[in-house]
Amino acid sequence: MAPKIFLTGGTGYIGGSILHALVTAHPEYDITVLLRKTPEAFTSTYPNVKIVQGDYDSAETLAERAKQADVVVHNGDSDHEPSLNALISGLLAKPKKSHLLHLSGTGIVSDWASPQHLGTLNPKVYSDVDDIAAIAALPDHALHRNTEKILFKTAAEHGDKLEIAVMCPPDIYGPGTGPGNTQSVFTRLFIADATTVAGNRVFYHGAGTNTRSWVHISDLTSLYLRVVEAAVADSPTFSGPGKYPGYYFAGTQEHAHIDVARTIGATLVKHGVIQDAEPVEVGLEEVDRMAKHPLFPKLGRYLYASNSRTRAVRAEKMFGYVGRAEGLLESIEGDVLAALGK
Ligand SMILES: NC(=O)c1ccc[n+]([C@@H]2O[C@H](COP(=O)([O-])OP(=O)(O)OC[C@H]3O[C@@H](n4cnc5c(N)ncnc54)[C@H](OP(=O)(O)O)[C@@H]3O)[C@@H](O)[C@H]2O)c1
Repeated sequence: MAPKIFLTGGTGYIGGSILHALVTAHPEYDITVLLRKTPEAFTSTYPNVKIVQGDYDSAETLAERAKQADVVVHNGDSDHEPSLNALISGLLAKPKKSHLLHLSGTGIVSDWASPQHLGTLNPKVYSDVDDIAAIAALPDHALHRNTEKILFKTAAEHGDKLEIAVMCPPDIYGPGTGPGNTQSVFTRLFIADATTVAGNRVFYHGAGTNTRSWVHISDLTSLYLRVVEAAVADSPTFSGPGKYPGYYFAGTQEHAHIDVARTIGATLVKHGVIQDAEPVEVGLEEVDRMAKHPLFPKLGRYLYASNSRTRAVRAEKMFGYVGRAEGLLESIEGDVLAALGK
């Protein structure tokens, strides 16, 4: 029988790209997606993908669909607890073992909450193998920690029945390939803040040497493919050691913020959006006025002033994962143009 996949967030940048990669590589999979609004060309582009109408608060639908699936690939909102709980309850209600991939993010290990390294390099680089115990014990204020706590607890209590992969990408770049949003968030927000709060200048905080990991969306989706295939095969490469879920960082490179700012600046000058490519220093007060988010007022600190350094050790060990796409700084022009609507 064809493996049954239930996927959420299929119109998103990440979830849509994963959907596209799965349909393309595995037309034999029986894929169902949860959609709250179906894009116009969806059924003509993906005629074999089944659609279930609903959103992340449709707990009964989520639980029922999870119960019918062999593998659930949950994307779209890394912090939404009710949808995650509903999916887990559906998966645990099945008589046989099943698999869940949950999209988290390396915001979880960012140092945004402490002033110590804002705008400067933090030497700490997290490994998803050697630091798994530390990641499992991160404080509650860590981004995505609310859902990761649920995942670590479920893996410890029900690991024999439900195997979990926590997919933890860093900042992502490159064009998405899904049926909805095809743009990542960083470049779009950075340009919006540069052309408003920072007065038509690209910017950095402190020394600008705060450093974050990055991955191209095509490398990330290739990792997702390997992990879904491992789930379908019920392979031991899928899940983590002992009581832990399989935990997958996905970064392929890292960059200091000032280098990213300078490269975006040069691209904006080239396309006549700003006049001066050289980054200007901004204080924390300005950073805190950037990237407004109703649930996370310090999003600006996280995006522009924090470090979030990770190594995808587990993916490399299990699947020989390496980045194949062009690097961020070489390819950022495409993202800049997309953010400008050009
Ligand atoms: N992009 C990055 O660089 C990055 C890196 C690491 C982690 N993350 C995390 O990954 C998650 C997804 O990011 P993304 O860039 O793919 O976001 P996105 O492009 O905005 O996609 C969000 C997806 O989730 C769906 N969705 C959101 N809330 C929903 C709800 N209540 N009910 C049903 N569907 C809902 C959206 O559906 P509609 O189309 O109907 O709105 C869309 O399909 C976020 O939580 C983000 O923090 C992102």
